[in-house]
Amino acid sequence: MRFGVLTGGGDCPGLNAVIRAVVRKGVKEYGYEFIGFRDGWKGPLEGLTMPLDIATTRGILPRGGTILGSSRTNPFKIDGGVEKIKENLKKMGVDALIAIGGEDTLGVATKLDSLGVKVIGVPKTIDNDLNNTDYTFGFDTAVNIAVEAIDRLHTTAESHHRALIVEVMGRHAGWIALHSGLAGGASCILIPEVPFHVDKVCDYVKSRFTQSYAPIIVVAEGAIPADGDIVTKDGSVDAFGHAKLSGIGEWLAKEIEKRTGNEARTSVLGHIQRGGTPTAFDRVLATRFGLHAITAAHEGDWGKMVALSGTAITRVPLASATEKLKTVDPSLYREAEIFFG
Ligand code: F6P
Repeated sequence: MRFGVLTGGGDCPGLNAVIRAVVRKGVKEYGYEFIGFRDGWKGPLEGLTMPLDIATTRGILPRGGTILGSSRTNPFKIDGGVEKIKENLKKMGVDALIAIGGEDTLGVATKLDSLGVKVIGVPKTIDNDLNNTDYTFGFDTAVNIAVEAIDRLHTTAESHHRALIVEVMGRHAGWIALHSGLAGGASCILIPEVPFHVDKVCDYVKSRFTQSYAPIIVVAEGAIPADGDIVTKDGSVDAFGHAKLSGIGEWLAKEIEKRTGNEARTSVLGHIQRGGTPTAFDRVLATRFGLHAITAAHEGDWGKMVALSGTAITRVPLASATEKLKTVDPSLYREAEIFFG
């Protein structure tokens, strides 16, 4: 059997660990052949490939990014896109696909599965917002990077008596903000799931200054003021209709300065959160996902996504992974609120 492997959407630490595990077990245990599709769904759409075997996947375990490249190409937005993919798979003798991605990439995989393409999904996103899996790889790395940044910002905030705002990723879900804010001892955490009141944030800022500590506010890029709108970068959208975010931190800094008279500055962590080597946790999770994905394919369990449930790797229907987002439960947010101010 011959498999095509692709990685789509935003890059994420651990993608290479999945590719390596899929190939290693697929070749050693099942005698399968592999072909790498380049740049997400663009690969099978345009026939862009690279060789994928044990030799080409050696040494990639600790490497960030993806050796296959990625894109946000949506074949369902391209005339005749799906037919083209089916045609290319046939031409290249590819029997089935292993698609590694988040809500958009796996959304495409779900539709292709219903159109008869054999596919297994592997959940990836630093945002940790995919349904039906306890964690996605990449999240732990992103949180650790954000915590290191927060730790460093604490000392400069204290030295300069400033309020420092750290803007982290998280379009619809505040997992990175919540975990990094809790681990980093933030004075306030703002997440997309809970609209915030600027006056309340200013109260936290003022109270933190009275305790002779400088406040650190962690804000997810998708956090929304109760009486305002989500802040976008330039109004442009990608092939899946998502607006580019970022800017809420800057906006909040201006409001805090205006309302409290204290200097407020913002650091936007941006793509730093997705870059570089994965943590050990993410390497192990990604490796286990890869091993189980190729086994699911070997057993012909098409249309499934591998998932983490507690400590076990399970299989769930691909469709269930993307039918809704896994957002932060308000009770978890309330736990963190004890430390605000
Ligand atoms: O999908 C993960 C994510 O990290 C989101 O939180 C963020 O909005 C998006 O990627 C930004 O990605 P890019 O800048 O590559 O479009």
